[in-house]
Amino acid sequence: MSKFYVELKKVVDDSYDIEVGRNLFDTLIKDLKGSLGEGISRYAIITDSNVRRLYGEKLYERLVNEGFIVDLISFPAGEESKVRATKEMIEDEMLTKGHRRDSCIIAIGGGVVTDLAGFVAGTFGRGIPFINYSTSILGSADASVGGKTAVDTPLATNLIGLIYQPKKVYIDLASWETLPKEQISNGLAETIKHACLADKSFFEFLEANIEKLLEPNGIHNHPEICEHIAEKNCKIKYEVVKQDEREANLRQILNLGHTIGRAIETLSNYSLLHGEAVAIGLAMQAQIGEKLGYVTKEEVERVIALIEKAGLPTKLLDSMETEDVVQKLYTDKKVRKGKIRFVFQEGIGQIKQYEDGNYSIALEEDFIRKTIEEVR
Ligand code: GLY
Repeated sequence: MSKFYVELKKVVDDSYDIEVGRNLFDTLIKDLKGSLGEGISRYAIITDSNVRRLYGEKLYERLVNEGFIVDLISFPAGEESKVRATKEMIEDEMLTKGHRRDSCIIAIGGGVVTDLAGFVAGTFGRGIPFINYSTSILGSADASVGGKTAVDTPLATNLIGLIYQPKKVYIDLASWETLPKEQISNGLAETIKHACLADKSFFEFLEANIEKLLEPNGIHNHPEICEHIAEKNCKIKYEVVKQDEREANLRQILNLGHTIGRAIETLSNYSLLHGEAVAIGLAMQAQIGEKLGYVTKEEVERVIALIEKAGLPTKLLDSMETEDVVQKLYTDKKVRKGKIRFVFQEGIGQIKQYEDGNYSIALEEDFIRKTIEEVR
């Protein structure tokens, strides 16, 4: 018998730029003509039905006019599309249209688009490059940065996917002006999460300014608020990701509010938007955290008031049974040794780190059940 040792140690540089600005198609085209487009023969723009109409077709025309070989592929807008069947549909369309390993994906849209298109990129031809062009507040705050790509399954969200980093991220603030009001609120949940876990002065900035974005023409009239929010979100997120890309520990903090949030998003059959579910999850982690002595009553009230100012819910839907929520928590990715784990904020602008260095803690099912029942 023989025995071999396959030595495959790697040094990988997955660094990339995030560019925040307005109307960034010219910048993207200039980049594609430069080093970003090196070695690429063909582009697949992947988007959803809403963004296709608003930006996808325009980008397609611009790229065709500039002489690029490009296809435009879209799927119906909504979280319901973030499934394996849509991934398969995109892959088959790309294969039929002649895409191979020298192709590059440009994902243009919100979090559903970038999660799905990034996952396609990570497995198509065993991995082709992709670029994220983010057009939503939600996507710019979370999904477009950090390389988590995934699809949902009937059991829970984001269970199937991989960590695969984009080559560049563009955050187009001008596109926020075309968001309907509910999508502005939806996007602000991840922003509030970042402030709760990492930055007290950002939290105070949001307390003073968040409502202005929900006024008629609020996004258009307050470009400086949008820019500050986009930059803070990127900075808070990439500082975490660059220290713990694969979520060995620190990256769990980006799960604040998501333990309950993801569970109720699935339980609602996606009638709750991701941001709405996270908002409820944020309010509940604050209230559970108060019981554990991590935040004061006044701090909880401030968190809840900020979520409400953003036009987001803070309570479980009446139709949801506490027991169903508790059982759904077992599908969370943080579950270890059969125990449900939570991340908590400590005061405002900090995350709780435990004595063993961990950022999440296992809680007894009974305690979770009783507390959810009490605060729901
Ligand atoms: N959305 C949480 C993360 O990127 O880790």
